Amino acid sequence: MTHILMVCLGNICRSPLAEGIMRKKIEEAGISTEVDSAGTANYHVGEQPDRRSIKKGKEYNIDIAQLSGRQFVQADFDNFDYIYVMDHSNYDNVTRLARNEADINKVKLILEEAENVYETEVPDPYYGGEDGFEHVYQLLDNACNNIIKKLQS
Ligand code: 4NP
Repeated sequence: MTHILMVCLGNICRSPLAEGIMRKKIEEAGISTEVDSAGTANYHVGEQPDRRSIKKGKEYNIDIAQLSGRQFVQADFDNFDYIYVMDHSNYDNVTRLARNEADINKVKLILEEAENVYETEVPDPYYGGEDGFEHVYQLLDNACNNIIKKLQS
């Protein structure tokens, strides 16, 4: 079975939403894939996702209220096949913990999977307004559609 990890900084805004979106698409596609999320920082360990991410998920029929923040750990390189990071800073934080080339090769900017998107990063919406969360949702939805296609092929 394929194991996918979504990673951002705090594991309360972007990556829990990515996890929820991916989980729903996996269910709809009926494929056997596991998905989890983590943050590179420990600021929000044990916390529920940001209320604005929970609300955004609800708008699209995705429930992420039960998720709980955790920090990325080196063992995640053993437990996951694909590690999708939201931005370059996440990429640096994750690959800094890599033990070898195989670990590094698992790590990818999630927007490399998106179609017709010319941004490379899912912007951190934490300090911004509500519309930032819609933008994050759209970027993640696009990327996750293509990840699903890849898993099916
Ligand atoms: P996330 O957003 O990385 O998408 O979960 C953030 C959440 C919290 C903080 C930064 C980014 N923070 O500095 O507490």
